[in-house]
Amino acid sequence: MDGTTELLEADRRYLVHPLHHPDDHRQPLVVVEGKGAMLRDADGREYIDGLSGLWNVNIGHGRAELADAAGAQMRRLAFASAYTGATNEPAVRLAEKIVGLAYPSSAAVYFTTAGAESNESAFKFARYYWKVKDQPQKTKIISRIHAYHGVTMAAMSATGMESYRKMFGPLVPGFVQAPAPYAYRWSGDEEPGIGAADAVERAILTEGPDTVAAVIAEPVMGAGGVIAPPASYFPRLREICHRHDVLLIADEVITGFGRTGSWFALGHWGVEPDLVSFAKGVTSGYLPLGGVIASKQVHQAIESAPADRRFMHAATYSGHPVCCAVGLRNVEIIESEGLVERAAVMGQRMLAGLDELRDLPMVGDVRGLGMMCGVELVADRATKAPALGLGGRVLRETLARGLLPRIRPGSADPPIGDTICLAPPLMTPPDVLDRIPKILREALVAATS
Ligand SMILES: Cc1ncc(COP(=O)(O)O)c(C=O)c1O
Repeated sequence: MDGTTELLEADRRYLVHPLHHPDDHRQPLVVVEGKGAMLRDADGREYIDGLSGLWNVNIGHGRAELADAAGAQMRRLAFASAYTGATNEPAVRLAEKIVGLAYPSSAAVYFTTAGAESNESAFKFARYYWKVKDQPQKTKIISRIHAYHGVTMAAMSATGMESYRKMFGPLVPGFVQAPAPYAYRWSGDEEPGIGAADAVERAILTEGPDTVAAVIAEPVMGAGGVIAPPASYFPRLREICHRHDVLLIADEVITGFGRTGSWFALGHWGVEPDLVSFAKGVTSGYLPLGGVIASKQVHQAIESAPADRRFMHAATYSGHPVCCAVGLRNVEIIESEGLVERAAVMGQRMLAGLDELRDLPMVGDVRGLGMMCGVELVADRATKAPALGLGGRVLRETLARGLLPRIRPGSADPPIGDTICLAPPLMTPPDVLDRIPKILREALVAATS
């Protein structure tokens, strides 16, 4: 038995994978090495990393600087508590750096170790804020259909895709979903950005503004199929949240740290959130780290609370010195190599290349912002009937041609076709980037002939 065969036998016996099902695990991809935008598997085959790992390896694979930063910090001090009354330098320096790069109103950072934990924490920040303001009944969270906010209990309850929730109910009470700004399938009379923002307002009014703590929104929906909003959406949503005294949480777990061509994505539309969830790109995935950025107003509520109403939220690894040292080095690399500006330029190039696929009959929509793009597949372009099941065949064909994208499986209700999600590292060289639409064209043709 060769090494890989033995490994896979042990895998089947001992490992439960995220989203596990044995049918989807008959021939798992065993990635053994990464360099820049490229991955190599156990059989020596090379792939373009079309999703930067899981939307997170922003600076690319194999950067020794991050290994050096981790090693140096581990040797000096591997762990230190950051609970109130104690601190450590990497956590302070990274928080300072992030506040400087985020929104003008951003004030302070609470660190977590993942995206879902960041959103759980953001919900608690929102509830805490209203309790400090003597409005303890403001507890509900409004999110959007097709949203992905992670799958811990509260994050799952905000996630707007039924497939993630079906086997794990009941959901946490007080989570409500409104339609997304999904221009391709918008059927209302209003312009989709305005109509979708107004749909959130209707949800706030139905629930009662005095019961709603926050609206949570990904600036560009990622796992839901790379749904980029019309420019009118976030300015209108911000105004609605202000008017009804509801906090706006930006889930920037994917969009933070340069992915869309801006350090944080609501900057594209001149909008500032009250809370920002981040993770993934803060360390480019080299170590687990996430967090919540609080605005001055929210931070002030924590700073001014009496001792008996303190912020009793915590985690052992909040402000982990090694993760923060790696985060700091990663952010310095994004900055010094101009990767945010590069994501804007290269993202346009990728979208323009993918746009040429529109002549293929199964391509319904091509969309994106910066280095995150989606190609939605349809069974019929005229009716926009979703293509369901085609994505898996396309994936097999792209893998055979050296491209690893991610497929968002579609659904009949609400309608969305299988969507090919592409978000390669921000440093992907132009010649590699230009291969992506070419491979995808061949794969789409092969998968449908
Ligand atoms: C927008 C968004 N929020 C939250 C999460 C959850 O992050 P994690 O898997 O680190 O818990 C993800 C993961 O893909 C995400 O894309």
